[in-house]
Amino acid sequence: MKEMIEVELKARKVDFSQCKTDILAVGVFSDAAGLDKLNKELDAKLSGAVGHLIEIGDFKGKEGTSAVVYGNDQVGAKRILLVGLGEKKKATLDTLRKAAAHTAKKSVETQARTVGLALHKAFNRLDAATMGQACAEGTCSGSYRYDEYITESDNGRLESLKVDLVDPDAAKLQKLKTGLAKGIALGKAQSFARTLGNRPANVVTPAVLAGVAKDLTKGSKTLSCTVFDEKQMTAKGMGGVLAVGSGSRNKPRFIVLKHSPSGKAASTRPTVAFVGKAITFDSGGISIKPSANMEEMKFDKCGGLAVLGAMKAVAELDLPVNVYGIVPSAENMPGGASYRPGDIINTYSGKTVEVQNTDAEGRMILCDGLHYAVQQKCDVIIDIATLTGACVVALGKYMAGLMGNDDKLIKQLQKAAENCGERVWPMPSGDDYGKEMKSKIADLKNISGRWGGACTAAAFLGQFVGETTWAHLDMAGVWSHDKATDYTAEGASGYGVRLLTTFIIHLAKAKKK
Ligand code: BES
Ligand code: MN
Ligand code: ZN
Repeated sequence: MKEMIEVELKARKVDFSQCKTDILAVGVFSDAAGLDKLNKELDAKLSGAVGHLIEIGDFKGKEGTSAVVYGNDQVGAKRILLVGLGEKKKATLDTLRKAAAHTAKKSVETQARTVGLALHKAFNRLDAATMGQACAEGTCSGSYRYDEYITESDNGRLESLKVDLVDPDAAKLQKLKTGLAKGIALGKAQSFARTLGNRPANVVTPAVLAGVAKDLTKGSKTLSCTVFDEKQMTAKGMGGVLAVGSGSRNKPRFIVLKHSPSGKAASTRPTVAFVGKAITFDSGGISIKPSANMEEMKFDKCGGLAVLGAMKAVAELDLPVNVYGIVPSAENMPGGASYRPGDIINTYSGKTVEVQNTDAEGRMILCDGLHYAVQQKCDVIIDIATLTGACVVALGKYMAGLMGNDDKLIKQLQKAAENCGERVWPMPSGDDYGKEMKSKIADLKNISGRWGGACTAAAFLGQFVGETTWAHLDMAGVWSHDKATDYTAEGASGYGVRLLTTFIIHLAKAKKK
């Protein structure tokens, strides 16, 4: 799949004042007393223009803002973009990532084709590889556009953007480069998930997603893919996925990707399964949703896309961990063949579920995915899903809910979240909530009462993992950006790709078990 704007990221040894690009981006903290070394160097060449702009108060260094100083042939770059970093004491790795994203976004908006990034110079506390990675991730997210269906020729689209991390210090540059390669893999995998997320349900069906998963194996030495169609799912008894998919003419698929890394290191590390919900459209089915904003329900496949994106990145980086990517996919539609409230479904695990609401379909497909992961004898299972509106009510649009049955795994995911900037918040699930999912006429029912909907949904899922170490991410709130922000475009967020991949990166670094 072609990225909407082709971004080419490199690292280049060059003196800052000689960097010949359309834009050279430098960072400025809002509470900095005077200019830092790099900005002083540029200021001296520019007859004091940088300092002047700040002195007269046209630029205060606030996060999410920037200002332009023109190069006027006094320096190599046509424009110096001063990028606000906010208060120095509050700055994190994500501040740098967002500054890089802001730069990329401005560059696309102003049709700049070449960018020099010197943002890392403001962050002397972080190591260069980490900064190189963050700059690459930010550049991918900031330059991302979804415009493949806009046919007007003058849509202002920029075909390509060349971004160089610049530094005159060869040793620094080498480290920046190492991080850059990782950041490109992560950033592009996130853009891949965003584009598939943004594509509508008449384009992305379960069968199309299965094709995308198969395509990921092309040219990969570590990925293999198996897809079960309706017939194979029937033979296996995957009643949950089949029930949800029964109302649509776009037939369901059960997608399994496996990353088997080269080298032996993986045998000493836990085998991980990612299980992602991929409902290509959630109309609610017979328990149909109200029509307001229903178009957003094309994003109900984004958990599955987080898994596909993470598998892409994990494979590209050839991380030494065995990883399964399990993506049950269906379209939830009303129709003559739809499953209905009252139906009792035999799920893949053998447990029976009484359907009380066909709109609680995510858990109906995930329970089959989770059981498949258990069967593969995975040591750790992490599922990710746009599962409940209740989670959005609880946490809003900034972080995903995090539940599970193992404190250590929860902590590992919190650490991954902190590192990659895709935020999580711990929520309860377990026995009390689990009891609410008991049915009078089957083992389980698929909804409970009004309260704690995100927790009861998680507790339902928890009953399909047995004793396996498991965590659940409810990403309903973070599946999209409602509006474009100062650092990224609106639409699908690609949330989860970097979180899941970072979790594996950390596992790969951890001591052998
Ligand atoms: N895909 C939705 C959850 C959702 C809602 C995501 C809003 C993003 C925004 C899910 O399948 C769903 O419909 N959940 C129901 C569950 C209910 C019937 C128990 C919900 O949250 O209303
Ligand atoms: Mn639903
Ligand atoms: Zn749904």
